[in-house]
Amino acid sequence: MKVIIGISGASGTNYTINFLTHLKKQKIETHVIVSEWAEKVFEKENNKKVLDIKKLATKTYTNKQMDALIASSSFLADGMIIIPASVKTCSEIATAHTGTLITRCADIMLRYKKSLVVCLRETPLSGPCLEQLTKIAQYGGIVMPLSPGFYGKPTEISDLEDFISGKVMDLIGIANNSYTRWKQ
Ligand SMILES: Cc1cc2nc3c(=O)[nH]c(=O)nc-3n(C[C@H](O)[C@H](O)[C@H](O)COP(=O)(O)O)c2cc1C
Repeated sequence: MKVIIGISGASGTNYTINFLTHLKKQKIETHVIVSEWAEKVFEKENNKKVLDIKKLATKTYTNKQMDALIASSSFLADGMIIIPASVKTCSEIATAHTGTLITRCADIMLRYKKSLVVCLRETPLSGPCLEQLTKIAQYGGIVMPLSPGFYGKPTEISDLEDFISGKVMDLIGIANNSYTRWKQ
């Protein structure tokens, strides 16, 4: 399986590291695009260099590499996940504003009816933002807020990250036991 991962400049880049670690263990081919702001937010939040993300990916790209193989619909990706997804990137996807590699690839997923999961991180949400998210859902994308559940009784931050990674893997069809499923 080949997936494209977009990382935009929202908070929650620790989720990205956790998710990429799971995909690497599962031997999934990952094509990771890092926006300029993602790089800055990642380094501020995690006190790590963006190289730590790059080590987990099969291949990495900047958001300006519009001539990358993945910018063409002839690249047969199975799906795309944007984690975390900023309000800006989501709004661009909703309006087919494909000026970056992340938004270009996301538009290809919508055009070809492939899985597109946007893991939005923002709170609270404005009216205009809600309107753009609704459009993404109407056009076939999945809007997945980064809001982990607590029924598995998490004790560590990594439990919350594993919950999000597991939910995303469920959405794109990767079998996993990353989080505690509900049992009565
Ligand atoms: C430390 C920091 C945290 C941020 N967190 C968020 C966030 O959680 N959600 C969001 O939509 N934007 C957030 N932003 C603002 C985005 O980085 C900004 O809108 C940027 O233009 C997004 O560009 P991109 O989507 O191309 O990465 C944050 C910025 C900084 C500096």
